[in-house]
Amino acid sequence: MSESSSVKRSIITGVGSFLPGEPVSNVDLEKTIDTSDEWIKKRTGIERRHIAAKDVSTSDMAVEAARQALEHSGYQPSDIDGIIVATTTPDQTFPAVAATVQARLGVPICPAFDVQAVCSGFVYALSVADSLVRTGQSKRMLVIGAEKMTSLLDWNDRTTCVLFGDGAGAIVLELDEQGQGSIEDRGILSTHLFANGELKDILYVNGGPSTTGQVGHLVMEGREVFRYAVEYMADVVQKTLDHNNIKASDIDWLIPHQANTRIIAATAKKLDLPMEQVVLTVADHGNTSAASIPLALSAAVHDGRIKKGDLLLLEALGGGLTWGAALIRF
Ligand code: UT7
Repeated sequence: MSESSSVKRSIITGVGSFLPGEPVSNVDLEKTIDTSDEWIKKRTGIERRHIAAKDVSTSDMAVEAARQALEHSGYQPSDIDGIIVATTTPDQTFPAVAATVQARLGVPICPAFDVQAVCSGFVYALSVADSLVRTGQSKRMLVIGAEKMTSLLDWNDRTTCVLFGDGAGAIVLELDEQGQGSIEDRGILSTHLFANGELKDILYVNGGPSTTGQVGHLVMEGREVFRYAVEYMADVVQKTLDHNNIKASDIDWLIPHQANTRIIAATAKKLDLPMEQVVLTVADHGNTSAASIPLALSAAVHDGRIKKGDLLLLEALGGGLTWGAALIRF
């Protein structure tokens, strides 16, 4: 390749988010659950979360987040030619939430589908969207993480029900051919996806269409998931640095999946990155699964912390187990 030839990258040109209703604090939960604000804060960093009302669906939240991302990017629904929604809590078993979002926004005929990798879903969806954009299937996509995790909770299980929340985050991802392929050029620089199905039973939902015929409830061996999260996150961030031949000090912002401040702090420590360079929303959102990274990204873009040209490292782990990371020049 000659030095002057341009390289195809997919760049983020808009971000948006949506949180349903008023926040529900740990103290609010104390009233009905045998738990304490102190325990939840100390073990997880969570202080409050949003719980969607019965009549608010995952697609309702996805549509709102997508609208904000479109507005931020300056594009119309008619400018979009691909939609991926990362979700593990679809409105219905099928059609995909992405198809509902397409219809409700009025996006013209294009590919629209869901990706199910639980809390890693957004990183997986981003990786798939990046491939579709760079190979020419789509020029400008909506990539959305949207979850109504509270619909999967057993409110009698205090070990899980205090951890999760609802919400959605979205980005507009589009083809850019301005750069020469350098690390300084904007766009997704690399994505790294992994799964270890041997660990599927430490975090799962005990129902589904082909087994119980019921939605089921989330079940987690928290301590085991914690252990693997720390180990796999350390590994995937190192792989990302090595792949791009960069040092941890080159990163401007770590945008982790927001499950537990202690897991996030362990990853930041591994990178020797001060917590000031970590986008933390877990206190306000709880664990929103596939929505957590785009929600955090949107918060830090809209409050002015993340600026054009910043180097972002995204990482997540979830049921499967699945995990992954993405390096992005914003
Ligand atoms: O997003 C997908 C990935 N998920 C994660 O990354 C989550 C990973 N795991 C975690 O974040 C942590 O393991 C938890 C926050 C889930 C739990 O924290 P922990 O420090 O691992 O606590 P533990 O499960 O070892 O439980 C410690 C104690 C237990 O009591 P005993 O057996 O020591 O007497 C629990 O019964 O805390 C008790 N406990 C609670 N107490 C008050 C468990 N849940 C609660 C609660 N309120 N809600």
